[in-house]
Amino acid sequence: MRAGSTADQIEIDVRLTGADGAQMAREVRLGLTGKPKELAPKYFYDERGSQLFERITELPEYYPTRAERAILADCSAEILAAAGEPATLVELGSGSAAKTRHLLSAMQEAGCLRTYVPVDISEEITHETAEALVQEYPGLEVRGLVCDFEHDLERIPNGGGGRLVAFLGGTIGTLSPDARREFLARLAALMGPADRILLGTDLVKEPARLEAAYDDSEGVTAEFNRNVLLVLNRELDADFDPDAFEHVARYDSAEARMDIRLRSLADQTVRVDALDLTVRFLAGEEMRTEISSKFTRERLEDVYAEAGLALGGWFTDPAGDYALSLASV
Ligand SMILES: C[S@@+](CC[C@H](N)C(=O)[O-])C[C@H]1O[C@@H](n2cnc3c(N)ncnc32)[C@H](O)[C@@H]1O
Repeated sequence: MRAGSTADQIEIDVRLTGADGAQMAREVRLGLTGKPKELAPKYFYDERGSQLFERITELPEYYPTRAERAILADCSAEILAAAGEPATLVELGSGSAAKTRHLLSAMQEAGCLRTYVPVDISEEITHETAEALVQEYPGLEVRGLVCDFEHDLERIPNGGGGRLVAFLGGTIGTLSPDARREFLARLAALMGPADRILLGTDLVKEPARLEAAYDDSEGVTAEFNRNVLLVLNRELDADFDPDAFEHVARYDSAEARMDIRLRSLADQTVRVDALDLTVRFLAGEEMRTEISSKFTRERLEDVYAEAGLALGGWFTDPAGDYALSLASV
């Protein structure tokens, strides 16, 4: 389906169809009947989930957004020069594209900016972002894609004049190692010699700072985590009581990743009508809702190499908390 817009510079291709509903049903059934139970983090992001994530990025404990913004503020011109001044910026998991403005402005200053391609699973935020950007960057063409990027990656439009494919916010860290390898290999297969990936990754650091970043004192991250239960209630006619689960955020140093879970506060059963499924939770039982892998430069070089990519640029914030890296085929 192609949805029109008031601005002729905007085209948003919405690829969330009935088939996605069937896929959600399949994935959630597998996740709720698995041992341990698990849900995919992409289901956090309905409209409310996207709004809660925006609040997380402003929390004092949540340093990754500030660190990534600092790198983009300082290094966007250098990043673009190293990427060959592309005409198209593709952004996977674009959300509100708040930090992306630094890249777009640098492209505008370099005179190469033509097209922005936001790719996100949340339709509302993609429309809002597109509308805001065509006002801010006169003449910009927005060719958005609302989809699950793990399934529809191959739909990303080709860019004449080279593409920079940004994947910011540490979202790559939410994929399991197998899914990450497959995703980056598929992305590599789509890239021409002039294309570059710009990947945002959080770096390994003391567990206490990591755990605070994912368990803030205001409880916004806990609310974001429990939001996935409301999504299941709405989309799959489930009857989860979000207050019957608590937020758990632990650093797993062996795997170098944050492990985010929901812990059942009591023995309880949950009915998921759309799946004709009754799920039992024991008191204290945990269900994983997200991982967030942390990297070192060496680890990331290996991750790229496994996918047929080569690291070509490395940019960190002054404290060395976070990295943006450029990669090519
Ligand atoms: C951690 S947020 C990052 C948002 C933004 N890029 C930033 O850096 O602040 C993850 C973003 O990816 C989107 N997302 C998560 N899983 C996705 C998937 N499988 N397909 C498409 N978008 C996805 C979410 O809707 C959300 O906007």
